[in-house]
Amino acid sequence: MDKNEAVEDFMQRIEHYRQNYQSMDYTHDKDLSFIQIFNQGERFLVNKLAGHLQSRVVYYLMNIHVLPRTIYLTRHGESMMNLQGRIGGDSELSPRGMEYAKELSRFVKSEKIPNLKVWTSELTRTIQTAQFIDGPKAHWKALNEIDAGICEGFTYEEIAEKYPEEFAKRDQDKYHYRYPTGESYQDLVARLEPVIMELERQENVMVVCHQAVARCLLAYFQDKSSEDLAYLKVPLHTVIKLTPVAYGCRVEFESLNIPAVNTHRERPANTDLNRSKDDAMATVPPVDQLEGETTTLQNPAEEPFIE
Ligand code: F6P
Repeated sequence: MDKNEAVEDFMQRIEHYRQNYQSMDYTHDKDLSFIQIFNQGERFLVNKLAGHLQSRVVYYLMNIHVLPRTIYLTRHGESMMNLQGRIGGDSELSPRGMEYAKELSRFVKSEKIPNLKVWTSELTRTIQTAQFIDGPKAHWKALNEIDAGICEGFTYEEIAEKYPEEFAKRDQDKYHYRYPTGESYQDLVARLEPVIMELERQENVMVVCHQAVARCLLAYFQDKSSEDLAYLKVPLHTVIKLTPVAYGCRVEFESLNIPAVNTHRERPANTDLNRSKDDAMATVPPVDQLEGETTTLQNPAEEPFIE
């Protein structure tokens, strides 16, 4: 837009506001709670701050900025435990995961990102994934993968066999379900709050994290509901570019074209506590299924009949 046109447009916007809003008045409104922000965060006036929620709002508003920047979000490269369909743990990258780590550093170089900071969790697979990227690195415990408690290191099949009721309860309400001695997605969201706040303060950052953690961060930037959050698709070996734009965030998925196993399990149709093991396993991706591939039936005669 031409500069003069932009100024004109902006003045019209202010005029529109003037017709529809009423300015706070210090004498008249002195007993109300409000925050006034001058020049996009140069100065703040906080009046009658009352209670925890209001102070959180003030804290949030004091930490956000409007400078153009991009947040790059990725999961670690494929890990040895991903290859076996095992959850949690602290395993190393698989050979394909290591290839992704190298490709990721090439991708970062090609993007020519000024002052890029790289954040990882404290787990081996994210640290290995970020190892070739040029730039200052920070390792956050808060970015570690969801703690699956007594199910850490299990495959979904082993959980369905050993703790069938727990497995079904998780399918009934994945966001609120807390693994015994572990965490829920809701716990994870609370754990990630300081990371999100610090992300808001930063400019260009690459976050190398895990499936459940990436879902929470993506849900925050995309304003997704808690029901959708736990099922968001965050494939391995893919970079998600998040660019704040007016009133939202542009989200671009960029696959770096290195094959990886599919670790995404959809919610199955049957979530009854007494369901059969087959029903519990209905949506578990086979360990040899690659990202982007759909399950192909061995015997075409087994193809379900659709009327
Ligand atoms: O399978 C990889 C993984 O990162 C596990 O470590 C973790 O428990 C799981 O994904 C989280 O995904 P979901 O909540 O769908 O089980």
